[in-house]
Amino acid sequence: MRMKGVILAGGLGKRLHPLTKITNKHLLPVYCKPMIYYPIQTLVDAGIEDILIVTGGNHAGEFLRLLGNGAGFGLKHINYTYQEGEGGIAEALGLAKHFADNYRIVVILGDNIVEKSISKAVDEFRKQPKGAKILLKKVEDPARFGVAELREGKIVSIEEKPKRPKSNYAVTGIHMYDTQVFEIIKSLRPSKRGELEITDVNNRYLEKGELTYSILNGWWTDSGTFDSLLRANNLVAKNAEKGKIQKAKCKI
Ligand code: DAU
Repeated sequence: MRMKGVILAGGLGKRLHPLTKITNKHLLPVYCKPMIYYPIQTLVDAGIEDILIVTGGNHAGEFLRLLGNGAGFGLKHINYTYQEGEGGIAEALGLAKHFADNYRIVVILGDNIVEKSISKAVDEFRKQPKGAKILLKKVEDPARFGVAELREGKIVSIEEKPKRPKSNYAVTGIHMYDTQVFEIIKSLRPSKRGELEITDVNNRYLEKGELTYSILNGWWTDSGTFDSLLRANNLVAKNAEKGKIQKAKCKI
């Protein structure tokens, strides 16, 4: 089953000011490449060739200058769209409706960096009759993330940045959805922080009994705060040291 990929790289990156004053967060360096290269490569490695980048802010044109038509990643073409303001991850995803058409989608946040391939989970989702699949990862600081409560191997609740997390399983920024997702987004109301939340989307699928999950292999990090950006740089650098990243991969 052919699936399409959506990279969400909108928002204003306020938590990284002043680094993001004159450029977009997703163009900042993570070791030897701009941040956005990593989610693109993750999708390409999972066999996704139709990719849409949702960007925003004042520096959106720089994406085109940097990535062109994606030839450096072996792509024939990259699609771009623009989110005004920062109405939330689910709002940004809503802009992908036209692109997604009637295909299922793999969504990855533009500031999420993973060590290993997500191919296995993507292939499992291809076989799933309907619904959504999310990737979870055990973390030490779950309160920073969406947190999934698991019981008998099933997700029973997801809370966005809970003060008292019910588990250590963070909801990573990698989500797979069937075509229902756009109807769900349309019916959402903004959260207390004024955003359409991806956690609310996932909870709708959970209510329908159509949400599955996998645990992500290898390390995972976001890179949207000073500390997590440093962590991302260090994790990628460590892999480069170990020879896990080929030098050629830095040259895209
Ligand atoms: O990284 C995983 C976490 O991402 C999840 O555990 C949380 O459930 C989810 O809400 C999200 O948390 P953050 O609050 O850390 O997300 P942030 O606002 O940093 O946005 C992450 C990326 O999403 C950002 O790099 C670009 C994209 N985004 C975000 C917003 C708010 C958009 O494209 N548009 C937006 O309006």
